[in-house]
Amino acid sequence: MNATRQQPTDSAKTAVAKRPVPFLALGGVWEQDDIDAATKVMQAAARPDGNFFPLPEEKDFQNALARHEGCKHAVVVNSCGTALDLCMMALGIHAGDEVIVPGLTFVCTAGAAVARSAKAVFADIDPVTLCLSPSSVEKKISPRTKAIIPVHFSGLAADIEGFDNITKRHGIPVIYDAAHAVGTRHKGKGIGGAGLAACYSFQSNKNMTTLGEGGAITSDNAEFAEKVRGLKTFGYVYGPQLRVTQIGFNYRMTKPQAATGMTQLAKIDRVIAARLARFQQMNRALEDVAEIIRPAGITEGHGCHLYVARLDTSRVRFARADFLKHLKDVWQIACGNHYPAVWSWEAFQNVNCDKSDTPVTHKAVEQVMSLPLFPSTTDEGVAYIAHAIKETIAALKKE
Ligand SMILES: Cc1ncc(COP(=O)(O)O)c(C=O)c1O
Repeated sequence: MNATRQQPTDSAKTAVAKRPVPFLALGGVWEQDDIDAATKVMQAAARPDGNFFPLPEEKDFQNALARHEGCKHAVVVNSCGTALDLCMMALGIHAGDEVIVPGLTFVCTAGAAVARSAKAVFADIDPVTLCLSPSSVEKKISPRTKAIIPVHFSGLAADIEGFDNITKRHGIPVIYDAAHAVGTRHKGKGIGGAGLAACYSFQSNKNMTTLGEGGAITSDNAEFAEKVRGLKTFGYVYGPQLRVTQIGFNYRMTKPQAATGMTQLAKIDRVIAARLARFQQMNRALEDVAEIIRPAGITEGHGCHLYVARLDTSRVRFARADFLKHLKDVWQIACGNHYPAVWSWEAFQNVNCDKSDTPVTHKAVEQVMSLPLFPSTTDEGVAYIAHAIKETIAALKKE
């Protein structure tokens, strides 16, 4: 720690040294053991008899991932986007079908349905957890509904029992978007076996990363796992004789990526524990800030991918954009926006989608902001961000 730097304090009169706080930081996540794992398989591939075929690294990683996520099967792929696409393909989603999704999510949750020419139907989110609400989903079910894609938003488990009940009553499969949720626990158990399948992301800024990109599909359903396993690699079925039983693509993960999956997975619990400590610290630091709605469920079991706070716009006369601009310009703090409403993206302007009956989502997308908290954030770093938030609110209230 810099001994000459003053400790942040809540006193507006005390000068606090400003310093850049970036939104992404892999310190304590991507380390020498990950580099060594990737290097080892790259060096082996350089031998005269070497190759880049990902076995057995892929198999090891799949087995370890399934164990960690509390499910029977894992199929690793090159991203969560392709994982969702494969699930839509495996379900035979096509034109005329409807897929129910949240509007507060990354574009590809809904894009996976639209890419298969289906209609994305937006149901509302829960005002506390910000995850898709089963009761809102229930109202959107039609005879054309072929799938539901809830997101374990920010790393907090969605209402799994609520969606299980929907599947029981209506027979509609649930595919979880678990991009934020590696390591998330629900009632003490991993979320990999919930619903028909879950789709994970190991892209660069997630809690673990396989060389910057990567994903996986997990399931307790052997038949579904086999189907996506075939689809991810040209429809191949390996055996005494290679067969092609369905039209697939190449969505495979590379060998160095799979090798780093093992080292990343070995430390994921430590990474999440460090994130949880920071998230809880921030929750305490913002306890007395009435203008900020702190995230719910920051406790054991939360995957702690994103700390999504909300600016309570009913209590202030400035917009979130002004708040974030002040934080950036004056305090050099970069925040994320998870997310603009899916339907607000240009590409969705003319697609067949239904965004009615989503008041909670409409409000949330004007309020959310993800604070830059990582395993490498220090006590002082948390205090600095909390201090800057309080000072920014005070400054903007005066304007
Ligand atoms: C909720 C959600 N779903 C899907 C994805 C896509 O993940 P990937 O980049 O691995 O395709 C992301 C990525 O940020 C995400 O946040």
